Amino acid sequence: MCWSKIAVIDDADSIVTTIKEQRSITQQQQYNPGLPDLCTPKVWVLRVLRFATLKLFNFPSERHPVFSVSDFFQKPKKMNKHYKIFIFLLIGLLSACKGPAPDPIDAKIETLLDQMTLEEKLGQLVKKNGDHPNLPDQIRQGLVGSILNEVNPDRIYELQRIAVEESRLGIPLLVGRDVIHGFRTIFPIPLGQAASWNPELVEKGARIAAVEAASQGVNWTFAPMIDVTRDPRWGRIAESFGEDPYLTGVMGAAKVRGFQGDSLSAHDAIAACLKHFAAYGWAEGGRDYNTVSIPYNELYDIILPPFQMALEAGAATIMTAFNEINGIPTTGHVSLLRDLLREQWGFQGVLLSDWNSVTEMIVHGFTPNYKESAYMAKQATVDVEMVSRAYETYLPQLIDEGRINIEQINDAVRRVLRLKFDLGLFENPYRFKGDFPELLAPEHLEASKQMALESIVLLKNQGALPLPKNIRRLAVIGPLADAPHEQMGTWVFDGRKENSITPLQSLRELGLSNGFEIYYHRALETSRSHQITDPKGILRSVGRADAVLLFLGEESILSGEGKSLANINLQGAQEELVRLVGTANRPVIAIIMAGRPITFEEVKPYMDAVLYAWHPGTMAGPALTELIFGKVSPSGKLPVTFPRHVGQIPIYYNHKNTGRPASFETFVHLYDIPVEAPQFSLGTTSHYLDYGFKPMFPFGFGLSYSSFEISNVALENSQLKAGEYLKVALALKNTGKVKAAEVVQLYTRQKFGSRTRPVRELRAFQKILLEPGQEIKVYFEVNTHDLGFHNQQMQFVTEPGPFQLWVGTCSQSGIMKPFEIIE
Ligand code: NOJ
Repeated sequence: MCWSKIAVIDDADSIVTTIKEQRSITQQQQYNPGLPDLCTPKVWVLRVLRFATLKLFNFPSERHPVFSVSDFFQKPKKMNKHYKIFIFLLIGLLSACKGPAPDPIDAKIETLLDQMTLEEKLGQLVKKNGDHPNLPDQIRQGLVGSILNEVNPDRIYELQRIAVEESRLGIPLLVGRDVIHGFRTIFPIPLGQAASWNPELVEKGARIAAVEAASQGVNWTFAPMIDVTRDPRWGRIAESFGEDPYLTGVMGAAKVRGFQGDSLSAHDAIAACLKHFAAYGWAEGGRDYNTVSIPYNELYDIILPPFQMALEAGAATIMTAFNEINGIPTTGHVSLLRDLLREQWGFQGVLLSDWNSVTEMIVHGFTPNYKESAYMAKQATVDVEMVSRAYETYLPQLIDEGRINIEQINDAVRRVLRLKFDLGLFENPYRFKGDFPELLAPEHLEASKQMALESIVLLKNQGALPLPKNIRRLAVIGPLADAPHEQMGTWVFDGRKENSITPLQSLRELGLSNGFEIYYHRALETSRSHQITDPKGILRSVGRADAVLLFLGEESILSGEGKSLANINLQGAQEELVRLVGTANRPVIAIIMAGRPITFEEVKPYMDAVLYAWHPGTMAGPALTELIFGKVSPSGKLPVTFPRHVGQIPIYYNHKNTGRPASFETFVHLYDIPVEAPQFSLGTTSHYLDYGFKPMFPFGFGLSYSSFEISNVALENSQLKAGEYLKVALALKNTGKVKAAEVVQLYTRQKFGSRTRPVRELRAFQKILLEPGQEIKVYFEVNTHDLGFHNQQMQFVTEPGPFQLWVGTCSQSGIMKPFEIIE
């Protein structure tokens, strides 16, 4: 059975139409016309007709409250004699509805297309690296329409000039770059940004990144990466938004809005690219590029929703993935790309391969040679081939042989040209010569600092933080305290370490004004070094200090693409360093900078406080200093579960219950098992004898310098029909002594279903800043349709039955209320 045929169009529609994110209607309609605009007269006519259809012809009951095209094509249960007349009337009415006015850009595209030779058309479908030999000449001949990794504005100007002034048809270039978490002003890595739980800030960060990149000539970024992952061994977890589909979708959509701004044609907008389609984060064993095996219902319920949410935000382009899914490399996956993405979702933007992923299908063992790789990728509707050369070499032959139709090529070229028109490149190919704020403008640095402040998560605090202002002596120790390159993290092509402000620099500055002394020891040359330098000197300094700031973690090169790890403990002699410092009877505050969750369970007891800073970017120093001294209270929450031990992976909050869920009552630890205990004398539930069943820190967790109380949780209605809104009100109070922000998280659980349901699923969240003692009312609205899933027939359904809802400040706690979905 072909799985992609199973998901009917209203399933896709239903997910995207219920997203509560703001969106740009123009962009959404541009690239995703399959997603209905709910306000046009045509839709209202259809709504009325739909209502009439349901009533008159006894259609199956409503699945969701919004307009759904597929309802019209569903067969009624019983057909009565009016049916044919009705269909006739329907067609008449529909054709009477005034269609949209013809788009003048379409005419321009067709005119260009008519003039293009096959070589010129194929030129639009290749993306060459900036160092490609003879690039200027190839552009002049119209053989290259798109480049990447060229960020020298003078050279971009020259290449663009050649394209526009010296090529036969004067078609401008697309200039792509991985602008992943900032261009020159570096923001925290995406995983850190997700920990802010603040989509407005994420959007602002992407806007700044776009402005800086656009000012240098870039007009297309290969971001956001919205691959959901449950594996901290996978190096690219750094580039992800973590383990939850909803949080990932919200953050992905925010990034898209930030990159693309209000209109792609603005001189400071760049096209976003959702990647990697699909399931790249599901690599077996967390090893990058590895095989992906995933049940289709999980693909639909966990991996794809973020893509739908980010498409709803108007994303212009999508990139395929390096991996296979259940035996089929995504770049040649016809049912995933052509049938689902194009036909069912209606995606009309540019679909780009990943670097060489067209020809890597040979290495996968899916295609025998370049020619068949080109064939498969084209059949799957991949428009642009990145770097490898199968398209330009073999598509002419495939067309001659009649295996590829010229209309397939024309369609791809249309999409590329459309993007160039939308970006305003035909009108102004040198748009980067316009007015721009300078790179590293003060407001850019301020936004980066704010993002770092909100993304850092306080994981443990036994009264050690914040440090008092009157502290006299501070020991600052560790390989990450003064590592300007490392604090920027992975995927930083255009950041400069000389622009980074390190924690040591900021602390020294504060020390001068506040009058405290700093004893600094790097201790380890790098995060991987095995030799602690001057342990005696370290102990002397620790003994003299009022508190120890221990900067640990991993260098930027240890996470990111191709940087998977089997051991995710602190590397080198860092654990030894923690033990050394931890025995000196001084408050030890660990600040961990890393691209992934690190398992530090064994040395956690030596730490009185832990700030998890990810790789915080250019402004790591000022942000950390403000948090350490309590100018701002930490407000980050984990976007991913932290295991206690690598062997627990995968461990994630939205797991299934199993038939034998673990519990503390049934769990007996390895060391507590009596000698020769009879086989079934111990609990037989789903746990590990050595590491139990709990993570080190759960998803959604994060402490504050204040405390919060949730009360008066009330549901407007505890019995609802599918499609109705679940309305929840609660009171949130800052019960502590400092101003602080809290993230209120709403989770649900369906008690049983025709497919088993996760123990919790995040449905909504709000980040709220409160003064000490302040209390406010918080409201949530969740459409019950969003609580659906793909059933055994792969239909998206919201099944009636009992549910639970929690509102709380972490995935493992909260106030529970039952509710029910009724027929
Ligand atoms: C390969 C990576 O997988 C992709 O994410 C990136 O955008 C391209 N290389 C281009 O650098």
